[in-house]
Amino acid sequence: MQPKNYSIPELNKFIVPETCKLKNCLKTLDKNANGLVFVCNKKKKLIGVITDGDIRRYLIRKPNLNSFVTEVMKKNLVSLPVNSKPEKIREKFSSEIKFIPLVDSNNRIVDMASIYRFSLLPLYEPYLKGNERKYINRCIDSGWISKGEYVKKFEEAFGRKIGANNTISVTNGTTAIQLALVTLGVGQGDEVIVPSLTFAAVYNAVIFSGAKPVMVDINLETLGLNHKLIEKKISKKTKAIIPVHLYGCPVDIENICKIAKKFNLFVIEDCAEALGSYYKKRHVGIFGDAGTFSFYGNKTISTGEGGMVVFKSKKNFNKAMLIKNNGMSDKKAYWHEDYGLNFKMTNVQAGIGLAQVEQFSKILNKKKQISNYYIKKLSKLKTVQLVKTPKECVNSYWLFTIILNDQSKISRDKLIKKFLLNGIEAKRVFFSADEMHVYRKYITRKEIFPNSKLVSANALCLPSFVSLKKPSLDRIISIIERETLQKV
Ligand SMILES: Cc1ncc(COP(=O)(O)O)c(C=O)c1O
Repeated sequence: MQPKNYSIPELNKFIVPETCKLKNCLKTLDKNANGLVFVCNKKKKLIGVITDGDIRRYLIRKPNLNSFVTEVMKKNLVSLPVNSKPEKIREKFSSEIKFIPLVDSNNRIVDMASIYRFSLLPLYEPYLKGNERKYINRCIDSGWISKGEYVKKFEEAFGRKIGANNTISVTNGTTAIQLALVTLGVGQGDEVIVPSLTFAAVYNAVIFSGAKPVMVDINLETLGLNHKLIEKKISKKTKAIIPVHLYGCPVDIENICKIAKKFNLFVIEDCAEALGSYYKKRHVGIFGDAGTFSFYGNKTISTGEGGMVVFKSKKNFNKAMLIKNNGMSDKKAYWHEDYGLNFKMTNVQAGIGLAQVEQFSKILNKKKQISNYYIKKLSKLKTVQLVKTPKECVNSYWLFTIILNDQSKISRDKLIKKFLLNGIEAKRVFFSADEMHVYRKYITRKEIFPNSKLVSANALCLPSFVSLKKPSLDRIISIIERETLQKV
């Protein structure tokens, strides 16, 4: 999420007048320590740019420090109107252009955008272009900021989009898993099968319910739970399986449900990262006993913090509705029919959620264009492996993820640093559970997770937010090509 303010306090260190001689220009360059200055005329209008390289090359030809900057400067430079949109500014940055003067209508520099400080192309940012503000204002104007009309409206609209009936909004994607576990009666003494590489909310929700997470390695193609390894890990204590549709790629949910049926286990699908993903034309989350979603700011649709649980059975839905509200009856005030906690989403969040659901198709279409472009360009590259979406599935590509293979000339971590130097945020994938000491105690010494380890060491997620434009995508792709192949 980008800051709106591009101003840098020491603008003067980047500007020299046209009457400036090279020796003084060098002093200014020395002060700003960024290797370039902009040249302005008497009327303060921007007329050129000089880099320290330009001066060096000029002095080799003509060693005269008393020459005027106008003799050395390049007139051809990139500047933008001061009110330019962040996306527009980001598109202009490249490995050559790291500073962009922002000018007023008279072409006077009034501000400056810097690739390093203000204009990181983020991994993700929410797309809030619909009725979000209108619905928030309605909450504020009416005073209904806690409960209110939007909660039910959001739950129903969300349910319609994914083909689910029993939808319950909650505070976030972690409590969504917790509520699903508690409702299904998973707790003390139980074991729950989970993938060995996922966001740790999955393990934490299981551990806080009193149960024990039992890790199973992932499939290298989909990055999700490998169903072929599940049966070996089932014991008398196993009560549930939590497959995670990681980064948007659906797992083989039909086979997982078959195993669950055979051993009488619950299935809770974690769809935090998979809104818009389908398995055999049905949205993920509606195959198991429960499906959980997250609406954190970096998710496909967002309510700031927020989550949703969808239950297959009405009975579990009714039970969860009680638990989510401290077990309190909705018919008799302060009468508690069950134990519970407070997992309630606010009306303000739900208002945002409703506005987001209204833009669901648009968001998914744009994300599809982005992932298609990445696939088109990167699938030819011998240095990377892409996630392989099974043909019967639709992958929403929450975050487009690539795995560097052994032909890559650069390590994953170094590539991420290169991205950062170019003002782009790329992120490593999650760690394999056995790499973190807090979860290691749930894993026996004999257990190994080769695929999780390989992915944890070599995979990274690329910017995948809805308003990402083609020039930015091209920049990202060219960095991957250049760095992994090390073309000079
Ligand atoms: C796979 C997965 N599960 C659960 C969660 C938890 O969601 P939240 O952050 O809304 O609690 C996340 C969040 O990123 C996630 O990626």
